Amino acid sequence: MTKRIRLGVNIDHVATIRNARGGEHPDPVRAAQLAAHAGADGITTHLREDRRHISDDDLNNLEKGITLPLNLEMAATEEMLEIALQHRPHAVCLVPEKREEQTTEGGLDAAGQINTLKPIVEKLTAASIRVSLFIEPDETQIKAAKALNVPVIELHTGHYANSVNEELASELIRIEQAAKLAKSLNIEVHAGHGLTYENVMPIAALDEIAELNIGHFLIGEAIFIGLEASIKRMRYLMDAARAEDKLDFLVKHIPL
Ligand code: PXP
Repeated sequence: MTKRIRLGVNIDHVATIRNARGGEHPDPVRAAQLAAHAGADGITTHLREDRRHISDDDLNNLEKGITLPLNLEMAATEEMLEIALQHRPHAVCLVPEKREEQTTEGGLDAAGQINTLKPIVEKLTAASIRVSLFIEPDETQIKAAKALNVPVIELHTGHYANSVNEELASELIRIEQAAKLAKSLNIEVHAGHGLTYENVMPIAALDEIAELNIGHFLIGEAIFIGLEASIKRMRYLMDAARAEDKLDFLVKHIPL
């Protein structure tokens, strides 16, 4: 029997819409509560150094307002470390961050930054926070993650999401091989970035992957079909990808 794959819903872009006008609407905490109701297994949020989507207040409110595990994405900086140690979320995913980028553009260079990352990983781990590194599906990065002793990695699926045809196929193979290598090293594998209804199934079908973190597409789709339906449909496609008899699953569990 294949293990159920978890869905972490990233609510950052609810805050992006709110910030376009200031004020309090739409509220990321309400979105997180709805996500829980719709079948999310966790809530993910990225407190960026420029606070372009969620704010420090949002983080406080999320901490109080949700019961699902919180996965805090953050840059490996002293400021963020201090915030994480104060909040003690269930998990921290260390990501690279550039002010001028539109979104996280690639994985963390764990191999090139072992000495900088080591004390940060150690302090988070000592505070019982599950540390994950957002990295490219690349052997060198996975071995660096192992050397850093993190229990989890999140594989960057952005290149896969932006590819077509042969490139798409080879990106998928790259992700599969990376996931197998990480699992063989006893590292839990997550994946995310750029996932949509169209491209999620081949990734969700990889048994080695325990969790997907998805945000932008779900919030965008919510404009058309509502947040609950948008998440439920993603959940359905992820479960269908894992089902042994896909046709039987698809017929029995038609979503909203
Ligand atoms: N995982 C990580 C580490 C990310 O930085 C992001 C984007 O914030 C996501 C997953 C979600 O990506 P998307 O919003 O494209 O679904």
